[in-house]
Amino acid sequence: MKKFLDLGLQPLANSYILEKNLKMKEKKFRLEIGFNEKNYLVSILNTVSKEKMFNKNYPYKSSESKTMRNSFINLAKKIKRRFNPNFVIEIGSNDGAFIKNFKKDQVVGVEPCKNLALITKRKNFKIYPQFWNIRLAKKITKDKKADLIYSANTLSHIKNFNEIFKAIKYSLSDNGILILEDPSLLECVKKVAYDQFYCEHLYVFSTISLQKILDNFQLEIFDIENISTHGGSNRYYIKKRTNSIHRITRKVKIEVSKETKYGLKNFVTYKKFAKKVSISRIKLLGILKNLKKNKKKVIGYGATAKSCTVLNYCGVDRRLIEYFYDTTSFKINKYLPGSKIKIKKYKKLKKNDVDYVFLGAWNFKDEIFKKEKKFIKQGGKFISHIPYPKIT
Ligand code: TYD
Repeated sequence: MKKFLDLGLQPLANSYILEKNLKMKEKKFRLEIGFNEKNYLVSILNTVSKEKMFNKNYPYKSSESKTMRNSFINLAKKIKRRFNPNFVIEIGSNDGAFIKNFKKDQVVGVEPCKNLALITKRKNFKIYPQFWNIRLAKKITKDKKADLIYSANTLSHIKNFNEIFKAIKYSLSDNGILILEDPSLLECVKKVAYDQFYCEHLYVFSTISLQKILDNFQLEIFDIENISTHGGSNRYYIKKRTNSIHRITRKVKIEVSKETKYGLKNFVTYKKFAKKVSISRIKLLGILKNLKKNKKKVIGYGATAKSCTVLNYCGVDRRLIEYFYDTTSFKINKYLPGSKIKIKKYKKLKKNDVDYVFLGAWNFKDEIFKKEKKFIKQGGKFISHIPYPKIT
């Protein structure tokens, strides 16, 4: 593994701080990113234990945003049309935004964050509040194998591929389909979205790296969709190599060629990316300091895990961003880790209240701009660091 980026000392991204704990010392770790020249995998070098990150206090809820809700509804429709599965498993089912689109006797969810698992359980879905592993796979699919396994934004959180893919292979019927969805490394590098890296995102996958991993398990990608969620993701359709029903589409070849042409197999590409990241930091600080000098009121929008990386890497605190707005009830009245900027309950933006808004949830830019049409019309401005820091 060759290191190419050092994002400094970072707290755990989703460890929002209660007011009474503000003085307590936070656990920090060094966020460094490396590239494996053998399997093209890009990953963070120091990992934090999964139990520390995914527990009953996990704050992220898929159903929180309209974009995500719609994405799951549309995908469920598409899956039914294309594959018509009888038995579906979702690994990392979060609050059930995907599985709720299936009949209760046709779907099971696996979700180790107990607070989230409970939300789905209350709606009478079959849900296992555990980490996915071979023991659980055997329990769920001993008698009936799955026609389809879906997992979105989960694989990048899991350290031990061996365990995961062995369990997936065991659970999947011979002609079954695995669908994985995760942020795309190509998009991340192109957009200088260095905030895709935080303690939970151990990896940002490319097609070429995923192909190498899957190869070890006799699995292969047969189709790909580029989707806009989480700042530009890929949806990979995967099958057992022995399954000849699903032909490999041209899209796979096209994606591999796009990634190769962009240089995702070469270390030098990542060194260039790291250079752009350090320029991005200088520019963002420049913008924020200048606004502060001119006595403008700047707040943040969307207290994301991604923002945590940006704020801590750039050294932004409440002197530069007064507070953040967020709609997630669990985050409200807490403080962002590291930067200790307060998170307030979201209120529609008004030019009278605020001048500039740092877009922490830049991956929901379209949804947010639509919602804040009036503020923009009144002359309110957003600051985004993607693909480079600017005021829009
Ligand atoms: P998310 O996209 O999950 O980013 P990350 O994985 O980096 O944490 O988080 C989006 C956050 O933005 C979530 O806390 C909800 C918030 N949000 C709003 O406050 N208002 C909105 O209109 C949208 C779309 C999101």
